[in-house]
Amino acid sequence: MGKKLIKNGVIVTASDQYEADILIDGETISAIGDTLPSTDAEIIDAKGCYIFPGGIDPHTHLDMPFGGTVTKDDFESGTRAAAFGGTTTIIDFCLTEKGKPLKDAIQTWHNKSKEKAVIDYGFHLMIGEINEKVLAELPQVIDEEGITSLKVFMAYKNVFQADDGTLFRTLITAKDLGALVMVHAENGDVIDYLTKEALNNGNTDPIYHALTRPPEVEGEATGRAAQLTSLANSQLYVVHVSCANAVEKIAEARNKGVEIWGETCPQYLTLDLSHLKRPNFEGAKFVWSPPLREKWHQEVLWNALKSGQLQTIGSDQCSFDFNGQKSLGKGDFTKIPNGGPMIEDRVSVLFSEGVKKGRISIHQFVDIISTRAAKLFGMFPKKGTIAVGADADLVLFDPNKERVLSAASHHMAVDYNAFEGMKITGEPVSVLVRGEFVVRDKQFVGKAGSGQYLKREKYGTTKSLKQNETLSI
Ligand code: URP
Ligand code: ZN
Ligand code: ZN
Repeated sequence: MGKKLIKNGVIVTASDQYEADILIDGETISAIGDTLPSTDAEIIDAKGCYIFPGGIDPHTHLDMPFGGTVTKDDFESGTRAAAFGGTTTIIDFCLTEKGKPLKDAIQTWHNKSKEKAVIDYGFHLMIGEINEKVLAELPQVIDEEGITSLKVFMAYKNVFQADDGTLFRTLITAKDLGALVMVHAENGDVIDYLTKEALNNGNTDPIYHALTRPPEVEGEATGRAAQLTSLANSQLYVVHVSCANAVEKIAEARNKGVEIWGETCPQYLTLDLSHLKRPNFEGAKFVWSPPLREKWHQEVLWNALKSGQLQTIGSDQCSFDFNGQKSLGKGDFTKIPNGGPMIEDRVSVLFSEGVKKGRISIHQFVDIISTRAAKLFGMFPKKGTIAVGADADLVLFDPNKERVLSAASHHMAVDYNAFEGMKITGEPVSVLVRGEFVVRDKQFVGKAGSGQYLKREKYGTTKSLKQNETLSI
């Protein structure tokens, strides 16, 4: 692997913005400085581009069986699309089955990803039950597999849902072992009642997906999870926060000193309840959980990102074709597979709607799409920043390119784009993962299987970079 010297770009991190050259030697950044000597390096011209640390998407579901089908995007198409969108690392959710060893589930996820991923990846592990066998396996999962985040579903009754006892014991165990607990916070029992009632009343259209999962069920579950975290003196990360009710509960707990973090998604920041009302079953394209909300919730989410009450943005990529997969729910909204395709547009939507529209600063943007996830999920400072010794995961980003999002031009395998027709400003031009181009001048040049599995550090710990060479700027 040779050397590369990136010149003429503007480096932007969560804290700094400056013009400098970046020298890459092999997989890592070996020097950053003003007019570095080119010697034997290949020169890359980044004129007109920002250089961001590679995006880290902490929430994906690739090649995942769900709702009687399997997500359209697998680790190859999904990570390729992620790379086009400026994401160089994902953390995917490994599903477990009750009564079966955790190691079997993890092996299944390795088999799905190993030969396919074009960017780096790690796994979160779903916890559906806590018993002696699970407790015996968890230290190995955390220490040897480097899976340092555990996911509990408070919804999807009779599928993934765990009870409060399981959540509480997971929180206590995670505290002892150094893992971060993640929750899908919706009250699954209440949703179960409301959906049955809707179907009994003959209400079968996609909009009833949202009407049977109102903001109160998310707010209630978020508040409950926060209280249990406080009681366990543990740490919690709430995935896909969609509404003011949940933000309120997170802010309330944080203000009391509870260690609780919140993630939102580009869809909740830009799309709303009206999308589920689209005619000809088109509303099914927007069926995911939690559902889209009335538009006014968006401002609350933006403010929470700005003020730091929410800290990250995940895509919750979970794509199903409109034709043949979403259509399973024609005549019964509960049979529409839940999820949407967001992995490719996560970074660009946040840049365009956030930075360009003045809702967040460019440094907050970098923190939200990359740095904070690296810190929370045990990858910082190898990932999530631009520094000597860090992995050369870099995005050369044209901040002025105007374009329209569309299924006609996206790189996901799925047959629709949830942001179809949205005009945005900004585009990743070239993307490097550990020093190798995966996307170069908007062309895919990566290789299936080149993405590496990441064993992550325990929650709350970071390893320092080996600083071989530091140049002042
Ligand atoms: O509808 C969604 N979000 N599907 C993916 C699974 C989950 O709940 O995150
Ligand atoms: Zn979820
Ligand atoms: Zn999800």
